[in-house]
Amino acid sequence: MEETKKSLLDDAFTSAMALTNSGVPQVPDRYVLPPSQRPAIGSSTSIRDDTTLPVIDLSLLHQPLLRPRAIHEINMACKDFGFFQVINHGIPSSVVKDALDAATQFFDLPVEEKMLMVSSNVHQPVRYGTSINHSTDKVHYWRDFIKHYSHPLSKWIDMWPSNPPCYKDKVGKYAEATHLLHKQLIEAISESLGLEKKYLQEQTEEGSQVMAVNCYPTCPEPEVTLGMPPHSDFGSLTILLQSSEGLQIMNSNKNWISVPYIEGALIVQLGDQVEVMSNGIYKSVIHRVTVNKDVKRLSFASLHSLPLHKKISPAPELLDGNNTAAYGEFSFNDFLDYISSNDFLQERFIDTLKKKSSS
Ligand code: OGA
Ligand code: NI
Repeated sequence: MEETKKSLLDDAFTSAMALTNSGVPQVPDRYVLPPSQRPAIGSSTSIRDDTTLPVIDLSLLHQPLLRPRAIHEINMACKDFGFFQVINHGIPSSVVKDALDAATQFFDLPVEEKMLMVSSNVHQPVRYGTSINHSTDKVHYWRDFIKHYSHPLSKWIDMWPSNPPCYKDKVGKYAEATHLLHKQLIEAISESLGLEKKYLQEQTEEGSQVMAVNCYPTCPEPEVTLGMPPHSDFGSLTILLQSSEGLQIMNSNKNWISVPYIEGALIVQLGDQVEVMSNGIYKSVIHRVTVNKDVKRLSFASLHSLPLHKKISPAPELLDGNNTAAYGEFSFNDFLDYISSNDFLQERFIDTLKKKSSS
């Protein structure tokens, strides 16, 4: 027993879950962030900020008289935060619960089983991992994950984990439901920008959906580490399901705001592709994940993106004499190449696309 534990911990790859299960009293040094990057958990110096985060009732979108109200709320939320929570989104609670159950069972599998899918190659369609990229991270993050391409489902599902046996069915149902929800949201977001309802939808039609299933085990020292570092998502939209509180977003005052857990709600985050297509009218939201001592947290981040090689650029309808394109074009593939060869924590990919203002 001691032997197995030791070899697991000595291995170049050690999952956060294995560390938690081995009962470490402290996090290993590689998880310890410099003081300026630590979360202010329970600290008396944490900044008070009374920001209230938007919650939008999506059932309004289906009522012709009330749809304009929902579109207006979406416009405000996208401008102010690049973020909102949605309720009455139409995904049954049983589908959500089943997906969370399957994910719990997956992360509870023996390490050897999960390691069958381990890879540090970000182009792999199915990939189990820990931190962000265990082979290149300078500081490690208290997270394990499995990521898989999810759309079109029939193309990828055979490659998904076969264990637990219910995984493909339950996570597949959730992935299909989020794909549909994404379509409704992207239409509403187009409309909120004053674009044709189908504009962004047409851009994203043949796009990809990557499901990142994240597990943040309980952590002995949550005040010195994070589950995920500050970042924005590269895609068009991310639909996020969290099993408990832990996500924080940065508001316009650069303060970190904890996203409250609302039972049954889903979180919508704008990604870099919408920032570029909207020519910066909407901004992608910078977010991070805190961990805690008491509850293991699971999340499903459904990352929707334009097709791999399609070039993304500001919508021509949003450009005129006064508004010139503020970003260069890029594709999802360019982004993957960028993160393979750069430390994206030093410079965000989207910042490399910003054009210097000529004024
Ligand atoms: C992500 C992400 C947040 C969370 O996977 O990109 O930001 O709460 N996840 O897991
Ligand atoms: Ni993210």
